[in-house]
Amino acid sequence: MAEVSANRQVSSSGFLLTMATEVPSPDPGQFVMVGLPEPGAFFLRRPFSVFDFQARRKRLSVYYSVAGPGTEVLSRVRPGEKLSLLGPLGRGFPESPRRLHVMVGGGRGGAPLAFLSRRARKGKRVLFLVGARTEEHVLPLERIRASKIFVATEDGSLGMRGTVLDLLENVVSSPDFDWAEAALYGCGPSALLRKLHAMAVKRRVPCFVSLEARMGCGLGACQGCAVRKSSGGFFLVCKEGPVVDSLSVDWQSYSEVR
Ligand SMILES: Cc1cc2nc3c(=O)[nH]c(=O)nc-3n(C[C@H](O)[C@H](O)[C@H](O)COP(=O)(O)OP(=O)(O)OC[C@H]3O[C@@H](n4cnc5c(N)ncnc54)[C@H](O)[C@@H]3O)c2cc1C
Ligand code: FES
Repeated sequence: MAEVSANRQVSSSGFLLTMATEVPSPDPGQFVMVGLPEPGAFFLRRPFSVFDFQARRKRLSVYYSVAGPGTEVLSRVRPGEKLSLLGPLGRGFPESPRRLHVMVGGGRGGAPLAFLSRRARKGKRVLFLVGARTEEHVLPLERIRASKIFVATEDGSLGMRGTVLDLLENVVSSPDFDWAEAALYGCGPSALLRKLHAMAVKRRVPCFVSLEARMGCGLGACQGCAVRKSSGGFFLVCKEGPVVDSLSVDWQSYSEVR
């Protein structure tokens, strides 16, 4: 069990839930399964990527948006309440030996990448690209540690007007962008991940993406999170992911969770 220490709205669509817990230290990209306070009504725990972990204070945070009834109930949880917590689960982002790490987060997809940016080793150059609907929907930028942060909003209220994909095109077309040193990291909608993968193949650079799939158990038991592999067959996002090399995914069949 984890005791909620804070659960506050930090952007128009984002809440930061911090819990006191004894779980082992997570790697960026790993996730936790969070039980909801009304277990009768919500049987299944919900998966969330780790946004932050403070080992000394034993605090784990997730950044989430309200997507349906479960996350709506979660948004009303108060400090002191206890939630069941399973994790950290799955595989996180590997650290590429390349020096230029380009992290691209669409919407709440920026959450695991913000954690990754804070763990980047010395000597790495991190370019962090964030996309959101409006300024009010941008995740807390102060939690990102990067050489440079680029923002795109659909209405132009912060940063470039457009999507994070437009932003990405802009950044990589700069004359001093060095593909030979670059590795791509992505999390967000399937269109974004598909594009990142296509770019990585074209430029022959490594690309690691965090996938989403409907999850029942988070532990490899229910088979609910199977995604088609590019080489044929399936893999389980909760065990072999959520972070995978983009080359391993059959992008024709991969789609958003609906
Ligand atoms: C590995 C992983 C990491 C995630 N990290 C985050 C995060 O950091 N922040 C965040 O806001 N959201 C994250 N999500 C999505 C989040 O789990 C869903 O938004 C949430 O489960 C929706 O629950 P609900 O009851 O509000 O919605 P409902 O649509 O009512 O949910 C019904 C069922 O579908 C499942 N479901 C619905 N949408 C998703 C989805 N997108 N992915 C997986 N299962 C879904 C629910 O878990 C539940 O079992 C992540 C999902 C995965 C798989
Ligand atoms: S969520 Fe049950 S096997 Fe992956």
